[in-house]
Amino acid sequence: MHAEHERISKKIDLVCGMHLQTFPQALPYAHEGKEYHFCGEGCLERFKKNPKKYLGTPFIHLDGVYKSFTTGRLETRILHDVDVHIWEGDFVSIIGPSGSGKSTLLNIMGLLDKPTKGKVFVRGVDTSTMSEEETASLRSTVFGFVFQQYNLIPWLNAYENATIPLIFARDAHGERMEHTRKRFAEMGLGERLMHHPTELSGGEQQRVALIRALANDPAIIFGDEPTGNLDSKTGNMLLDSLIRLNRTQSKTLVVVTHDKDIAEKADEIITLKDGALVPDHHVHKATYTE
Ligand SMILES: Nc1ncnc2c1ncn2[C@@H]1O[C@H](COP(=O)(O)OP(=O)(O)OP(=O)(O)O)[C@@H](O)[C@H]1O
Ligand SMILES: [Mg+2]
Repeated sequence: MHAEHERISKKIDLVCGMHLQTFPQALPYAHEGKEYHFCGEGCLERFKKNPKKYLGTPFIHLDGVYKSFTTGRLETRILHDVDVHIWEGDFVSIIGPSGSGKSTLLNIMGLLDKPTKGKVFVRGVDTSTMSEEETASLRSTVFGFVFQQYNLIPWLNAYENATIPLIFARDAHGERMEHTRKRFAEMGLGERLMHHPTELSGGEQQRVALIRALANDPAIIFGDEPTGNLDSKTGNMLLDSLIRLNRTQSKTLVVVTHDKDIAEKADEIITLKDGALVPDHHVHKATYTE
């Protein structure tokens, strides 16, 4: 609870999570007798629309995340002082130049990787206090992942690939199997259940990967350039499926992308440059998706 209390009392942008102590351009805003600060107009406007939401606990909260890799005696700093809030039900896109740390950041948010320093809170709980089993369970029941590579198992058919998470969760006979089968039809793959990955197009394979990500009915879907290997028409179909999940089933979406269409449609944009967040991140859409 301590970190959560600090979040409110320090000069932190409650919407995006950025620390603003050393940021002179922070925008002040008075709400119910208290002063809050925002990194730019975008965050301020979002706060004004729904202050109650942003005074609550974020779904994912990165606090002072620092990541470096050490090779021999050489330490390479990848992320530094990254503070981020991801709010339940939002569609967030992460943009930035190649090598800026987007995938590293996403993997830390999704508990696939650990920060060198700093903390990751999920629904207010400090994940560094969780056991391996607890984080594994979060990853497989609350989180869903879609990567640029589809990572389908070549000797299993599409339906078997998509239901693997249910087999791992020992839930392979219930309602979720049926749901997963239905999703094939919803995503235009009703005739493709028995096809093996080599018998599917890239777009079809990625939709199978998305159905697999949804098998356990996750609350949040992390995508690392999920349309990166697809042509624009197929990419847009996948993007529409993701957005539909966000709009109709309130799934939180966090998508790393170079794709302007995705960034354009997101509610919130996180911009990374040289491993750090860029303030007033909303205005950088065009720069980093070209
Ligand atoms: N395991 C690792 N060991 C050493 N350096 C790494 C490792 N993983 C990533 N890096 C370095 O960290 C930096 C950020 O990598 P990351 O993959 O997060 O970038 P990115 O923003 O996703 O780039 P892209 O848009 O090209 O996918 C890069 O310079 C990369 O070389
Ligand atoms: Mg990347």
